[in-house]
Amino acid sequence: MSFGVYIHIPYCIQRCTYCDFATYEQSRIMPPQNYVELLLREIKLKAPAIQNKRLDTIYFGGGTPSLIPAELIVTIVRELEKQGFETGPHTEFTIEINPATLDSDKMKTYLDLGVNRFSVGAQTFNDKLLKSVNREHNAQDTLDTLTFLKTYNINFSFDVLFGLPGQTLADLKRDLDIGLEFSPSHVSPYCLTVPNGHPLSKGRPPEDEQIAMFDLIDERLLLAGLSRYEISNYAKPGLESRHNLLYWMDQEYLGLGLSAHSYSKTSSKWGVRYWNPSSIDGYKALIDSSPERLKNVTDNLPDEGFETLLKNQALTDFCHISLRLMNGLDQQSLLAKFDQQTLDLVTGRCQSLVSRSLLEESANGWRLSKAGITLSNLAFSELTFLANELPAH
Ligand SMILES: C[S@@+](CC[C@H](N)C(=O)[O-])C[C@H]1O[C@@H](n2cnc3c(N)ncnc32)[C@H](O)[C@@H]1O
Ligand code: SF4
Repeated sequence: MSFGVYIHIPYCIQRCTYCDFATYEQSRIMPPQNYVELLLREIKLKAPAIQNKRLDTIYFGGGTPSLIPAELIVTIVRELEKQGFETGPHTEFTIEINPATLDSDKMKTYLDLGVNRFSVGAQTFNDKLLKSVNREHNAQDTLDTLTFLKTYNINFSFDVLFGLPGQTLADLKRDLDIGLEFSPSHVSPYCLTVPNGHPLSKGRPPEDEQIAMFDLIDERLLLAGLSRYEISNYAKPGLESRHNLLYWMDQEYLGLGLSAHSYSKTSSKWGVRYWNPSSIDGYKALIDSSPERLKNVTDNLPDEGFETLLKNQALTDFCHISLRLMNGLDQQSLLAKFDQQTLDLVTGRCQSLVSRSLLEESANGWRLSKAGITLSNLAFSELTFLANELPAH
């Protein structure tokens, strides 16, 4: 059993046009010191209810954690330690970095604190495209940040965004050529996702070109020694994100801060999920008004922020998260969590998906086929179980 903590830092230099995360342009939210005060209170309130305090992973995400003073990141980690969470050399400690927000002083503070993994929001090395999605930094800033990280000989990843309006296959090829020069240990390529009618939904490469883009990414990253281990994640052997693996391997995690989600398997048979409000006012109100409720996080949070899973929901989640991984769904793990009758039900669905070429058989179960990766939503909808399809216990 692994356990990790996610801490959300909702500060950004700008709001990117495509972004749907709970973040604010920095002048539109309380000063970071005040936000961290709320976080410290949340840690104090929630810590007593968490049984497993050995942290396999810590992940500072956002937003832009590298935008706030590094000392505040230290304060948060020290409070976690004070409340009994164990950190050490065994802890994978990641921080998300935006280009043009890192300097030697911050870096020293991070490294002294034990940060051992950096995730850079590169997106694209094309200035015109960066501007078109309202990003402040330019490609040179990203190159400088990656060059800077490289001098430390540390583990870093970067995000690539593709399928942007006006972007061509040649643009993407150039992005990959530039980024891979830095020999990253990990890359997360994301195809732009925006709702219909969104300003960025116009002028995008057609669907077959988006597929060709992912094929190009796959080919280039494999050549660079990075293997795909999840739909949108590639790593050198042994350098997969252990934190993200928690999410996909049905492990427990605690999310702190605005909009952060948590998952616990200890307090109910099929697990519970609970999450914080995604507006800063809602989050502040929760911390200010609900100390008693927060103390008992696993059964007293307001309804909209808390869900006790039923068996069909736990099974649906288990199938979806397992299939995101290229190792796929393991029959023995499913059997260990559920029962033979449930495995039989899933086997029937998976066999039908194999016959439609969306899944393929693996040594221990099933995984998405190449076509299935592209059409994963179709495969996932077939593996969505309703309450009347299996008994609640
Ligand atoms: C939570 S963001 C934080 C990263 C960092 N703040 C940045 O923007 O560089 C994590 C990643 O999600 C991806 N992302 C955000 N919005 C997206 C969208 N609408 N479609 C696809 N990927 C998106 C981006 O690649 C981004 O780097
Ligand atoms: S910097 Fe990152 S988190 Fe902030 S708005 Fe842009 S994509 Fe979203």
